[in-house]
Order: sequence, then C-alpha cells, then structure tokens
Amino acid sequence: MKLICHFPAHKSVPDKYVLPPEKRPCDHELLDDLSVALPVIDLQRAVAEGRRQVVGEIMEAGKEFGFIQVVNHGVGEDVIQGFREAAMEFFRMPEEAKLKYYSTDHNKPFRVFSGSLTSHNDANDIRYWRDCLKLRCYPVEKLMHQCPSQPEMFREHLAKYAVAVQELARSFLRLIAEGLGFDNHDFFEGDLSGGETLMNVNYYPRCPDPSLTMGIRPHSDRHLLTILSQGEVSGLQAKHRGRWICVQPIRNAFVINFGLQMEIVTNGLLSSVEHRAVTNSAKARMSVASLITPKMDCRVGPAPAMLDEETNPPKFKDFVCSEFTEAYEAAAGNREAVLDFFKIHHTQNPACVNQQFNMH
Ligand code: OGA
Ligand code: NI
Repeated sequence: MKLICHFPAHKSVPDKYVLPPEKRPCDHELLDDLSVALPVIDLQRAVAEGRRQVVGEIMEAGKEFGFIQVVNHGVGEDVIQGFREAAMEFFRMPEEAKLKYYSTDHNKPFRVFSGSLTSHNDANDIRYWRDCLKLRCYPVEKLMHQCPSQPEMFREHLAKYAVAVQELARSFLRLIAEGLGFDNHDFFEGDLSGGETLMNVNYYPRCPDPSLTMGIRPHSDRHLLTILSQGEVSGLQAKHRGRWICVQPIRNAFVINFGLQMEIVTNGLLSSVEHRAVTNSAKARMSVASLITPKMDCRVGPAPAMLDEETNPPKFKDFVCSEFTEAYEAAAGNREAVLDFFKIHHTQNPACVNQQFNMH
C-alpha cells in the first residue's frame, strides 16, 4: 500500500509515520495571538484609483509576513472549483489507476508519490502524511498532453486553471515591480517568470492523531512565486517571528508567497518564509500549489534597481537557474544552506550579511 489515502481506516498512526518528538507540530510554538493575522488583500481595487494603496498593502504584508492572501483576484469560482473537483476525483480513483503513475523520478512530466516533500525521503526514512500529484502545467499547449487523461475532463479543467493562475501571477508580479519602485513594471515578465510552471496537488488524508504527524515538513519554496489554493480546510502555517501562524482558509482565495529566487532577486527584501502543513483528524484536505519559475537558462541575481554600492550591496551572486536547482537538491531544500551557497561574504560589514538569517 503506497498511498496514504488507500490505507484502511486507521485507529492509530502507523509506526512509520510517527515523527520523532522534535519534528512534531508542538502547540507551544503556535502563535495564538489572534490579532496577528495574515492580511487579506482585495485585488479588484488594483484596476482603479486604489492601485497605489493595493501596492502599498502588498509590500507591507510581503515584507512583514512573506505571505499574502488575495481575494477578488480575477480567477473565476467555476475555474477554481472545477479544477479542485477534478483533482479530488483523481484522488478518489482506485489505487491501481494512480499507482501507474507512481514514481520518484523528478524528470517525469507528471507523477504520483507519497510521504515526503521531495522524491527522496529524509535520511532516516521520515514519512509525512501527504499524497501528491506533481505535474508541469504551463504553457498548456506544450505540456497538457503529458498530464493525466483520467478522470474525464481532468485536462480541460487543469488547462483552464493553469492559464488563469498564470495570468494572476503576471498581474501580481507587475504589482510587486511597482512596489519595489522599478521603472520597468514588466521586470518579471519574460525569462524570469517564463519557465515551466510546476504544480503540487497535495492531498492530506484524515489522520488519526495529528499531534504525531506532519503533512509537509517546514520548508521554503525554491521558485519565484507560489500561488496556492488552500481550499476550505485549514492546515497551512507560516513562520512569523519564530512562531507559527495559521493561514485561515477562505473559499476561492489564493495564498501567495515568495520563493527563494524572489528573495535573491530582491536582495533579501521579500523573504521566502518557511511554512509547513499540519494534518487533522476531521477532514481530508487538498491544496493546489502553482510554482512560477524562471526559465532554466535564465540568469538570476539581485536586480540592479535594488542595489546601492554603499547602503545595499548585493548579498547574493548571480547564477543560472539550473545551477540553483542543483544547489537546492544538494542542500536537500534547507533554506539557509541554499542561500549560503549563493551568498556574498562582505568582510567589511558582517552584520549586513547575517541580517537575513535572523529573520526566522
Ligand atoms: C507546497 C506547500 C502547503 C499546503 O506545496 O510547497 O507548501 O498548504 N503546500 O499544502
Ligand atoms: Ni511550500
């Protein structure tokens, strides 16, 4: 039995999935101050005279939390729910139908796996309470024929969703470019955001004891931007000043957060904040993460407009996107280790270099 969603109904968590105590979701690390909540930003105002204000709110939330929740974002409810239902259907298919696609090979255009964040489980075979369908979904005309053809209409719904989310990413990146004060509002357009968009369709079955397991371990996303449909069941938590805060689920909203490459492009200003997903015993949860990515041969580095020789020297060296992927694999996704790989050590002013690592 490879997929958790096909385990027989459990009374207790199977031993393999019980995390060592230090990896469990400790309640005392949760920030229970309800006044600290992720801002919910209404993007509709960005098309009218409210644009400046929206840009300001995004930058403020982006700098403070690294996570932003958006509503009235222009992606239709029918598109979101249409794909979410098709994806739920996918996970409801018989296990044999899904195991055909089971693979730990990263090069597959789409695959199903279970238990870990990446294909390789942690060294001592630590397992997480998640099944995942991972695919490449944009540009659709190039990739859609490689996506699952079952259940019926899956591809149609996926294509509509992928196109709409890409459009949201474009307009959001334009708002970010404005917020950063770039003259070129299309700064992120083209190679920097034009790589193949990946998608994680995460499925977290009900778990008999959520205090012993985790759906996704704490991690930072590696790409430029993540656009997540969390659905209506909570589970996502983001690190904030050393504690975890819950990201409240809102139907049809998107949660947007920055990847490590955005942190580098903005020279550390928009940070790729660590997050995790906890499990629950009441309801299965499904989230859909779309990962906006630079082209593999694109040069990435701190944007010149972010830099100032005296007050803001580059904290990272330039690299080609494919080199980044290698470093990320080598560091097994560890945030500090990946950033350290590209960090420039300014000997005159060590305080400036250390600053970004103290934020979490
Ligand atoms: C991810 C992720 C969070 C969630 O897929 O990278 O962080 O809520 N998902 O499922
Ligand atoms: Ni993530």
